[in-house]
Amino acid sequence: MTKLTKATQGLRGTLQVPGDKSISHRAVMFGAIAKGKTTINGFLPGEDCLSTISCFQKLGVTVEQNGDYVEVYGNGIDGLKEPKEVLDVGNSGTTIRLMMGILSNTPFHSCLVGDSSIAKRPMKRVTEPLKQMGAQIDGREGGQFTPISLRGGQVKGMHYDSPVASAQVKSAVLLAGLKGEGVTSVTEPLQSRDHTERMLRAFGCSVQTDGRTVSLQGQQELKAVHIEVPGDISSAAFFLVAGAIVPDSKITLKKVGLNPTRTGILDVLKAMGAAITIENIQNEEFEPFGDVTIETSQLQGTEIGGDVIPRLIDEIPILALAATQAQGVTVIKDAAELKVKETNRIDTVVHELRKMGANVEATEDGMIVYGKSSLSGAEVNSHGDHRIGMMLAVAACLADGETVIENSEAAAVSYPNFFEQLKELQQ
Ligand code: S3P
Repeated sequence: MTKLTKATQGLRGTLQVPGDKSISHRAVMFGAIAKGKTTINGFLPGEDCLSTISCFQKLGVTVEQNGDYVEVYGNGIDGLKEPKEVLDVGNSGTTIRLMMGILSNTPFHSCLVGDSSIAKRPMKRVTEPLKQMGAQIDGREGGQFTPISLRGGQVKGMHYDSPVASAQVKSAVLLAGLKGEGVTSVTEPLQSRDHTERMLRAFGCSVQTDGRTVSLQGQQELKAVHIEVPGDISSAAFFLVAGAIVPDSKITLKKVGLNPTRTGILDVLKAMGAAITIENIQNEEFEPFGDVTIETSQLQGTEIGGDVIPRLIDEIPILALAATQAQGVTVIKDAAELKVKETNRIDTVVHELRKMGANVEATEDGMIVYGKSSLSGAEVNSHGDHRIGMMLAVAACLADGETVIENSEAAAVSYPNFFEQLKELQQ
């Protein structure tokens, strides 16, 4: 539980947000199935990525982690060993779904479980295509939920038309195809984040992208490399919005990942009228990053929907808060995927922001926010969802009186030092 009061002055300063969660997971996973020693700088030591490390250790891979520096000693996919224990992914959807893809290539039994949130999240979107590729995979309610049991081995490449724009589904199928016979390809309805494609190329694989279709030839080997993980734009998002809506603020965030499949939040904040500048863009061929500065701005309501949704799906809770401080109405649509995140994020955002006085209503595929409202401190709850807890902490900086955030420790899933950094900006 954390108690916060309204910021007495603007949020000002420069900080570096922790490493990107999606890239950190993949660096460990790909290092574990590559041959040789992979080194990772800027790794996110959050609970989700630590779950990935612990799963690969149980599969016999040596992984040494010291803060944000990690060494992974991979022996190829064939070097993975049958685990003696269940593989516990904790709260991490990326861990379980990508691991199902990798384990489709291993001819042994494994069992994947997670926490009570993971137990409610849909897994059939991954178990179904993997079954079609030849993996023996099952789970509660016909492969829909954890626990998942799996015996991989003889996987064949295939084309998969994914019904959802999900990088986790796309990645699981591509990873299963890595050792399979023939070509594996995935077409998505809208393009999702492309970290898997970029990182497989960095590990020496040949991966083709043609519009919304990604394909790779099977039986490719990964070669160990060094990976520099940029800051997570999904973590930066909390300070981008805080900087825009808390009066008299100016915040610079260094080395923020700027992969174009992730920068929807910058486009939307700019469209809402936020003063944002981006400098020092580097590393464009692998994962671009740069320094982002934001200043207090009067925001206007907007419409958020269509193909920008996968480019900002994890930022919708904090964008909903931004919309409470914008003039006019903000409509968020085409975002039904929010219902199957760590919590049902349509319900949790609406329920918790209303407690603080926001005028927001849920719709079938998003929400409508009527701005601008003045917020008041209240007793709110993250419901164990890291991004809801951090959004509420930013709301508390604006709210009159005291805000008590129950289950605020959920922030450690993706941002272990979030509350310290928030405090630093207030000094
Ligand atoms: C992720 C993909 C997204 C995102 C999640 C991380 C990834 O999920 O919401 O936080 O690392 O591939 P979906 O693939 O379900 O859209």
